[in-house]
Parts: sequence; structure tokens; C-alpha cells
Amino acid sequence: MAKIQIPRGTQDIMPGTVELWHYVEAKARDLCRRYNYHEIRTPLFEHTELFQRGVGETTDIVEKEMYSVTNPRSSDELTLRPEGTAGVVRAYVEHKLYGSPNQPVKLYYLGPMFRHERPQAGRYRQFVQFGVEAIGSSDPAIDAEVIAVAIRLYQELGLTGLSVELNSVGTVEDRANHRTHLLAHLNGVRTQLCGDCQSRIDRNPLRVLDCKNEKCRSLTKDAPSILDYLSEESAAHFEAVQKYLTALNIPFTVNPRLVRGLDYYTLTAFEIKMAEIGAVETLCGGGRYNGLVAELGGEDMPGIGFALSIERLLLALEKQGIQLPITSGIDCYLVIQTPEAKDQAFILLDQLRQAGVSAEMDYLDRKMKAQLKAADRLAARYTAIIGETELANGTVVLKEMATGEQRELAASELVNALAASDKK
Ligand code: HAM
Repeated sequence: MAKIQIPRGTQDIMPGTVELWHYVEAKARDLCRRYNYHEIRTPLFEHTELFQRGVGETTDIVEKEMYSVTNPRSSDELTLRPEGTAGVVRAYVEHKLYGSPNQPVKLYYLGPMFRHERPQAGRYRQFVQFGVEAIGSSDPAIDAEVIAVAIRLYQELGLTGLSVELNSVGTVEDRANHRTHLLAHLNGVRTQLCGDCQSRIDRNPLRVLDCKNEKCRSLTKDAPSILDYLSEESAAHFEAVQKYLTALNIPFTVNPRLVRGLDYYTLTAFEIKMAEIGAVETLCGGGRYNGLVAELGGEDMPGIGFALSIERLLLALEKQGIQLPITSGIDCYLVIQTPEAKDQAFILLDQLRQAGVSAEMDYLDRKMKAQLKAADRLAARYTAIIGETELANGTVVLKEMATGEQRELAASELVNALAASDKK
């Protein structure tokens, strides 16, 4: 029979690597505990309309990248979530969290997202996002706090040389004022722009400024900047975000061309980048979405958040040669010399495990030498040998692998001896 292969753009995370994921995920969760963000788990699929309305009809995500199905029995249109914010905001509205006594509502999520993109290093069709959302406050300090959560995660894992790019994409009114002037400029160079940009001019002209094509960039280098069209209030908000970031010692650069690929952003928009990572240099992206809660049927509540993928984070660690302090290995391997010894070892094994000691024994009828090799491969800290003599005496020979130190003790004491050594 022909083998069936993994779908393109997905990956199996195998033992040996999954420990890195556990480490990073635990770090993210602990950071959220310290910053007082609480986990929310929303479904992996939602009504397609949520993303059409939330993320925006004319975004690449909604136009090209969603995995959607129509339920044949109910004609429900459902989509595997391409990002987390829309689902979280839907849940916020559905569970009336605007009425919760704890304000602002601070949530985090950690789970798979799905986008039909062209796979490459750091770009998958299924990837895991860690993201936070703070809903219910317009305070620029919380913009800085959200950026800090992402930066601290990277820093605590040992990454260096990250840059925070910051922009304000203004309010809907600011953008309307800017749009007329931007369109005048873009229409002047329309025919020289790339195909994507030409179609963006009419639908979302701000995104033309974010095109990676060199020619488009030079044609738009003198285009009017959104920062010159911010209202006094929007400009003050942007100033304050910068002041708070500086206070937290988080370096940033203002990039007036930064426009995010999702339509819900207002005011603060940011990305965290790392040069070494190559084509997909963006590690993290986020910003404010002050109109999204209302757009999805809730009260008019402001929000801000970010998301980053664990895949890109691990890639960044690899590029910088950072080894995470992963401890592997089991506590004890029981080496059996006779079939009778096996029966006793099997009971001891269970007692060890119940006492919190990680333990293993042979299930393949291997000779003693092969069992010792197996213990080695599992990086066992101890081996406990049970042979004919030990069985007769009710003892085991316990050997500490690092030192080679060996002693005989009563089988009944093994659990206590190892459980105590575990606590050291
Ligand atoms: P986004 O910029 O589309 O924003 O994605 C955020 C992060 O997800 C990216 O910076 C990258 O780390 C990761 N990412 C995106 N696509 C892929 C992919 N195909 N493979 C691997 N990693 C990927 C959002 O999703 C917004 N929901 C962020 C946000 C939260 N804004 C406000 N709150």
C-alpha cells in the first residue's frame, strides 16, 4: 500500500521536540499569570461570517487563505479559524464580558490557527498562536503593557536583537481624512505599481504603503503619511504609547508605513521583527481594534492585543543558537535478570510511578546488557537491578548512573529512596 503523507504546510511535533513546545508554552502561561491575563479557549471553527466581518472582506486572509466548508445538512458556512481575535471578541460579546466586574477584560489563548498560505520556513498552514487581548480600556498604558508581554516572552527565552516597529493607523475618521490625499498620490503612480497594489488602491489604499516590492516602495516613498493626519486625540494617544514604552525600556522605531494585514486595526499597530529569521521576519503582530466589539454586535468597547506563533519563535531561537534548558530522562530503570524477578519488578514499577518517580522496565525480553543500554538511551538517573540473589534476599541493587555508586537495599525501601532523591 502507498504511504499517506502529512498535508503540506503542517508538521508532526515529535517527542524530543515537543518538550521545547512545553517549555515555551509554560513560559507564555506564566507570563500571563504575572500580567494577569486569563486563558480563554474558543472553538477551532466559527461561522465564516465572523471572519468576513471581523478580519475584513478584502484582506488576503479572507479572500485567499481560509479553509471553509458548507455543512451539507444545515447549509451553515463554517471556517477553521485563521486567527484568534475575532473568536475571542465573539466570545466576549456572547458571554457579556463587558458586564464583568473585572475590567479591562484580559484574555490569552494558545492554540492552532489555519491559513492556506504558501508554505516556507516559518510559514505553515496550521500553526500555533499565542495571543493576548485586553478589552475595555483605551489607556495607552495598556498598549505598552500588551507590547511588553510579547517582548518579555522573547527576552526571557534569551532572544536578542529584536525590533519593535510601531505605527498609528488612526481612527476611521483620521483615515478618511488621509485617504483623499493618499489616493491623489497613488492615482498619480497607479499604472507603475504592481498588480496587487493597483487592486488595493480602491479597496484599502493604506495597504499599498506596506507592499514589499521595491519599485512600489520607491513610488510611494513621498506618499502622505497617516501620522500627519492623526487628530489631536489620536496623536496624543500615540505619543503616550511611546512614552510608556520608553519608560519600560522597550526600544522601538516608528514606521509610518506599517499597515497590518487585518482590517480591524485602529490607532496603535505594531510588529516585532528579527533580521536573522529571513523571509518571514515578523515574529509577532498586533494592535488596537477599537471598533471590532461593536462590529461584532457588542457594546462599543476598545481593545488591543497581539499574536505570535510558536513556530516562528522556535525558529528564532534556533537561528540564534539558543538552547532551552530542557531536562529529559527518567528517574529509574528496573533491570530484570530472571523471569521471576520480572513479576516483582512489575509491581515495584507501579509503586514507583504512584510515588511520583518516573520509571521503566524491559518489555522485550532483552538480556541484561541490552536492558542497561536501554536504560542509557532513556538517560535513566538510576538503575535498580533485580536478579536471583536479590529476589531471594528481598533486595535490589541501586546504581546511580552519574557516579557509578552502587548499594544494595531492601526492595521495600526502593520507593522511599528514589522518591527522596527526586526531591533533592
Ligand atoms: P497576524 O499578523 O496575522 O495577526 O499574525 C500574528 C502572528 O502569527 C505573526 O506575526 C506570526 O508570528 C504568526 N503567523 C501568522 N501566519 C503564520 C503562518 N502561516 N505560519 C506561522 N506563523 C504565522 C493576527 O493574527 C492578529 N489576530 C493579531 C492580533 C491579536 N491583533 C490584535 N490582537
